[in-house]
Amino acid sequence: MKSKNQAIGIFDSGIGGLTVANAIARELPNEDFIYFGDTAHLPYGDKSADTIRYYSLRIAKFLLDQNCKMVVVACNSASTAANKVLLEFFQEGTHIVNVVDPLVDACVSLQMSKVGIIATKATIGSGVYQKQLKEKQAELDIHAQATPLFVPMIEEGFVHNNISQSIIEKYLGDEGFKDMNALLLACTHYPLIKDSIQEYIGPDINILESSEVAAKAVRSTLEKNDLLNPKSNPGDHKFYVSDLTDSFARTARHFYGEDIDLTHLPLWD
Ligand code: DGL
Repeated sequence: MKSKNQAIGIFDSGIGGLTVANAIARELPNEDFIYFGDTAHLPYGDKSADTIRYYSLRIAKFLLDQNCKMVVVACNSASTAANKVLLEFFQEGTHIVNVVDPLVDACVSLQMSKVGIIATKATIGSGVYQKQLKEKQAELDIHAQATPLFVPMIEEGFVHNNISQSIIEKYLGDEGFKDMNALLLACTHYPLIKDSIQEYIGPDINILESSEVAAKAVRSTLEKNDLLNPKSNPGDHKFYVSDLTDSFARTARHFYGEDIDLTHLPLWD
């Protein structure tokens, strides 16, 4: 049985999912959460679906062993590869929120005629966004493109310079994006370059990203299951990573928006 005062478990391939964790902290400031970033295995975006599923199942088990009332799959690559297997494996009574469903719903609610999707190779290759969007809006025109250089570029801090600008132009200058009305940032890292992307594609194209809609989905799932934490003091937040280097510790601040302490938890030993 899950209870209101248990923590929310959040996981990602690394530190990018901190964008989602921060949105959850803003949406639900009194909830405790445990974040696990699988920095030992990142990036997931270049891995096979089977490998991502294996890692995701192990991490979800860890979070449930920590007595979490819900597991949030903050990573798009893990959400597209592993959502089904997580639901099958943990079955009833386990609340799993992924980042794909809320973003698809947000997009469909706008009733656009053409959308672009950018994400990792794993996310685009899974076809999950494309399939779910088509199921909900059959006539929607979709251009989905993997943009694998963005993750290392952002992690290396190349966000507002001529290198990031050239890569944005190279990817988003593709003919396939012509006439889109909205662009889905289907990767944890991309909110950090949202303004540069907006500047390049122009102000009339809507940019949608997962962190805020996912945080709202977490709220509504907790509400529906009567699991919102009633306490009035700020939530306790723990941040674990499977590998800890100076660079992860430094970069975490950019993704979370404030200083946080990462704790090394060697889950794979
Ligand atoms: N978190 C991943 C995602 O949202 C991006 C980083 C990675 O490839 O591991 O797809």
